Amino acid sequence: MTTVDIDELYLDLMMAVGTAVIGSLQFGYNTGVINAPQNIHAHFINVTWSSRFSEPISQSTLTGLWSLSVAIFSVGGMCGSFSVSLFVNRFGRKNSMLMANVLAFIAAAFMGLSKLAASFEMLIIGRFIVGVYSGLSTGFVPLYVEEISPTSLRGALGTLHQLGVVIGILMAQVFGIESLMGNASLWPVLLAFTLLPAVLQCVLLPLCPESPRYLLINCNEESRARSILVKLRGTDDVTEDMQEMKEESQQMMREKTVTILELFRSPMYRQPIFVAIMMHLSQQLSGINAVFYYSTGIFERAGVSQPVYATIGAGVVNTAFTVVSLFVVERVGRRPLQLTGLMGMAVSAAFLTVAMALLDQLRWMSYISIVAIFSFVAFFEIGPGPIPWFIVAELFSQGPRPAAIAVAGFSNWTANFLVGMGFPYVEQICGPYVFIIFTVLLLGFFTFTYFKVPETKGLSFDEIAAGFRQSAGQGADKYSAPEDSTKKLS
Ligand SMILES: *[C@@H]1O[C@H](CO)[C@@H](O)[C@H](O)[C@H]1NC(C)=O
Repeated sequence: MTTVDIDELYLDLMMAVGTAVIGSLQFGYNTGVINAPQNIHAHFINVTWSSRFSEPISQSTLTGLWSLSVAIFSVGGMCGSFSVSLFVNRFGRKNSMLMANVLAFIAAAFMGLSKLAASFEMLIIGRFIVGVYSGLSTGFVPLYVEEISPTSLRGALGTLHQLGVVIGILMAQVFGIESLMGNASLWPVLLAFTLLPAVLQCVLLPLCPESPRYLLINCNEESRARSILVKLRGTDDVTEDMQEMKEESQQMMREKTVTILELFRSPMYRQPIFVAIMMHLSQQLSGINAVFYYSTGIFERAGVSQPVYATIGAGVVNTAFTVVSLFVVERVGRRPLQLTGLMGMAVSAAFLTVAMALLDQLRWMSYISIVAIFSFVAFFEIGPGPIPWFIVAELFSQGPRPAAIAVAGFSNWTANFLVGMGFPYVEQICGPYVFIIFTVLLLGFFTFTYFKVPETKGLSFDEIAAGFRQSAGQGADKYSAPEDSTKKLS
């Protein structure tokens, strides 16, 4: 296998990946943007309502409308992620990403003009549309990136999707500071900012190549696939890549086209799709968004005088540890990072629980809770943050991949929605012990990962699929590489 060193990354490849992850940045930005200036949006709804109906809004209507404008983003995400497979084979990977930007433009217009039009409905509709866009992005980007990356860099480049997300969140947190755009007059600009990355991506995408894997396997355009590969790999000798794709193509011709339904029916895919769903559930049910959505509140209760800056601090930790993961994922592999991350999060959540429970007796516990939040976030970005997004693309060959990504993305967004909606209520009931629930879940996911998730580092898509076929046939579920799987299975 040709070894590609991280030092000699090729310009065309980096340009293509960099352009794609603008979509990830958009997802992160729109996730984070609503968190910081929440009372501003509530105030806008309040004022708009009173001037339109000339009567004051009730507290419950206000809370309802505000929560809707937050939560409808995830509903849009569910719709978008589930639709991924409708686009990618019909229009291609690149054109799908390009087309999705129409949604970003429309959403930016709705959100940016909602104040001018005195319409909170426009804010809610805009949030929904940008949610659909984000749902599509969480499918399109990992799919494209995994398909154009050389095997030896798939994990590192796959992590860039998550890096885009966390940078987006951080940007939203910083821009959302009151003295920048998080204030009563500039918040429409804060929301409409999503327009700029969309424009940038529309300019850059036409310069990026289509996925050679899509061209060869789905469109049977061998010469175009080869010339793109030559550019992406920076070498004329792409025989090995071409050979690998052709093998996968032949394998695929023996299979039918795989729909979402067949993904669950066929014993061949049942196990990888189960692993894919569990990986995404472990990401969302780890409680990361509970920490992120409510971190400002947690810092406030922990007695931090400037909670906004502590939240931004968490965003910085978030970004820094995604970079750590980026650099170690190809050396250490997916499994060890995922396991370390889940266990570290479980321990951090336990510490957070203790710290929050003792906060009233011991003042210095507030420092423990902040350290616990930071380490929770750091361990998340080591594994459970980035890995689920790209491992789904790795677990499936070309035929079932789009459907699998749609299913996995949908479970991610659904879990995201449920945590976002449910956490405030559960927190009211459980008080400081709420994070014990996440500790238990995390230990469960650790056990699952230990027994069921295969290592995919350095294996071609076909080899990974072959491993699952083999284990489906023999009723075993763990393997590391096809050549030594027989050893482990016997
Ligand atoms: C709406 O805004 C007015 C004026 O700022 C305030 O007095 C009122 O309490 C607000 N209503 C709700 C439900 O928060």
